[in-house]
Amino acid sequence: MGFYSTFFFLFIISSVSACDRCIYQGKVAFFSSSAPLSSGACGYGPLALGFYGGRLGAGAASLYRNGVGCGGCFQIRCKNPSICSKKGTTVVLTDLNKSNETDFVLSDRAFRSMALNGKEKDVMTLGIADVEYKRVMCVYKNQNLSVRVEESSQRPHYLAVKFLFQGGQTDIVAADVAQVGSSNWNYLSRNYGAVWDTSRVPAGPLMFRLVVTGGYDGKWIWAPKVLPTDWKAGAIYDAGVQISDIAKEGCSPETCGDQEWK
Ligand SMILES: *[C@@H]1O[C@H](CO)[C@@H](O)[C@H](O)[C@H]1NC(C)=O
Ligand SMILES: *[C@@H]1O[C@H](CO)[C@@H](O)[C@H](O)[C@H]1NC(C)=O
Ligand SMILES: *[C@@H]1O[C@H](CO)[C@@H](O)[C@H](O)[C@H]1NC(C)=O
Repeated sequence: MGFYSTFFFLFIISSVSACDRCIYQGKVAFFSSSAPLSSGACGYGPLALGFYGGRLGAGAASLYRNGVGCGGCFQIRCKNPSICSKKGTTVVLTDLNKSNETDFVLSDRAFRSMALNGKEKDVMTLGIADVEYKRVMCVYKNQNLSVRVEESSQRPHYLAVKFLFQGGQTDIVAADVAQVGSSNWNYLSRNYGAVWDTSRVPAGPLMFRLVVTGGYDGKWIWAPKVLPTDWKAGAIYDAGVQISDIAKEGCSPETCGDQEWK
């Protein structure tokens, strides 16, 4: 494992670009329905509609990051103090929007929830809002990280899963699967969005381990028993763990300055 992890973390370092603790200035628009967000590039499907009280966002390519950004949470607030609340809203990224005119396209529920009480209509009337936003922790109360087995899975030849309800402020950058009690880990590859797969499927029951990071440091998250031997496509299994870390970052003050979210 020594060689593998050393190689791996070097790779991660060289692929870091954005700086999570920065406050970004940008624009957000909204979808009049949540449908585009639930059929989105991350692959969550209709499940996404239940995430974060329906406060969903389709991020620009720089936030979607080829799927690594899926499941990340962002605090977003619009800038007109007479109609926008200071706290703004918190959304979870469930989709990609390639439009280069906005940083996010939000569900209307998310867009509306940037408003001061009673000013929801005024905020909706903006259509496109000037905002500032930053990455924040995802917090799932009474909800562990979970593994959903995709319909394309076929025991024993192919396993595709997505990780749901990912807490904390880190990225899932690697995932392995093994039979419970074994140390014979097989890696999963990111197929697209939040979906990972492998054609080397150990016999069950199965456990997982993930590498989470968002910067120069990585951490293993071990879910010691997740899928039963007779795992079923379409089912969601509790991973029995949750992520609550905030990634350490190697970004310099020049990257984002000394801004403070006041
Ligand atoms: C991107 O967002 C715009 C609204 O700003 C919408 O018209 C367009 O359909 C979206 N594209 C995708 C691929 O979701
Ligand atoms: C968005 O992209 C189009 C086509 O590449 C370009 O013409 C346009 O100027 C861009 N808009 C912004 C705001 O960067
Ligand atoms: C999360 O996992 C822990 C450890 O397995 C378990 O005790 C707990 O009941 C789970 N929480 C929920 C909400 O399922």
